[in-house]
Amino acid sequence: MKKLLLLTSGGDCPGLNGVIRAIVKAATHDGNWQVYGSRRAYCGVLETPHDIIHLSDDVVAGIHVRGGTILETVNKGNPIAFPTDIKGKRVLVDRSNELINVISELGFDAVINIGGDGSHKVSQHLYERGLNIIGVPKTIDNDLFGTDYTIGFQTAVDTATEAIDRLIPTAQSHNRVIITEVMGRDAGWICLHSAIAAGAEVALLPEIPYCIETIINKLQTRFDNGHGFANIVISEGAKPIEGEVVSHQSTEFGYENPVLGGIAEQLAMRIKAQLPIDVRVTVLGHIQRGGTPNAFDRVLGAEYGVLAFELVKQGKFGLIPVHKNGEIKPISLKEATSQYRAIPLEHVLIKTARSMGICLGDT
Ligand code: F6P
Repeated sequence: MKKLLLLTSGGDCPGLNGVIRAIVKAATHDGNWQVYGSRRAYCGVLETPHDIIHLSDDVVAGIHVRGGTILETVNKGNPIAFPTDIKGKRVLVDRSNELINVISELGFDAVINIGGDGSHKVSQHLYERGLNIIGVPKTIDNDLFGTDYTIGFQTAVDTATEAIDRLIPTAQSHNRVIITEVMGRDAGWICLHSAIAAGAEVALLPEIPYCIETIINKLQTRFDNGHGFANIVISEGAKPIEGEVVSHQSTEFGYENPVLGGIAEQLAMRIKAQLPIDVRVTVLGHIQRGGTPNAFDRVLGAEYGVLAFELVKQGKFGLIPVHKNGEIKPISLKEATSQYRAIPLEHVLIKTARSMGICLGDT
């Protein structure tokens, strides 16, 4: 029997368990592979004792409907800069060679890492050092280059859309502007999709710096025309045009420590300062990462999992299945990590939003 090691790394998202289950099911069906899982990404391999579990059919039974990951995950588990205690001090050490040696000593023939762009950069590094590794694209942000869809994105859009749907009647009842802040790092995919789906008047994306005057004019016109409320969706990575307030910092793992308060709160303050309208803010936060994966993410997870296992069986490594123009196919990890996938300004959804009169905040 050959041995395959799975792990999930970086932020969790709905649909991870479905990928794990699909790989285990495909391996069981094949009959020549045993599947194991390293808990908390590479920590399960690098820590002593190792924290690696056998993934039998029984262990994965029914997990595809559950959010999160049964293998758990960590943000700071990068083996190239692994937090290690040396002489009582915690330092970051490159342990990638050690990792590859331990994986080989434990008898694993291949590894599948279900991760986002940061994780796949690490996978590419390990592949170049000789590890037999395949990636699977996941992240609610949908910002991995080379694929139209990552696992978790569609569920996060559903969650955001449902939340905005719930906020609209209360905004209507109180004649308020409601601002919903959504995640997505430096890409506005969740924001643009949920804004169109929920019928927002304004959608503010990291890709298009916004001008406060444009937003004020849009709201003023809307209220003057007798619409008693307005719905704004803002991405956590949205920025005002240069010279206006900037309050947050993007890191490899998302946004940290807003300096002057939340990005949506700041926008609310600026609207209130210029218009006699009541404004309320809802920050959806990690709610977008939780919950049951929708059918799309379950099916996509099954497709990615089965193709990832197929590549392992064929001995083809350094690859990652993607969903491109309706087709599921492998591309190289090198290509998938070659650039960041923000929304191209000529994307059809940007045009769709503009054509429907959704204000994107630019002048
Ligand atoms: O990358 C996924 C994501 O949820 C981003 O949308 C967000 O900026 C970040 O992770 C949050 O990270 P954390 O869970 O570390 O707060």
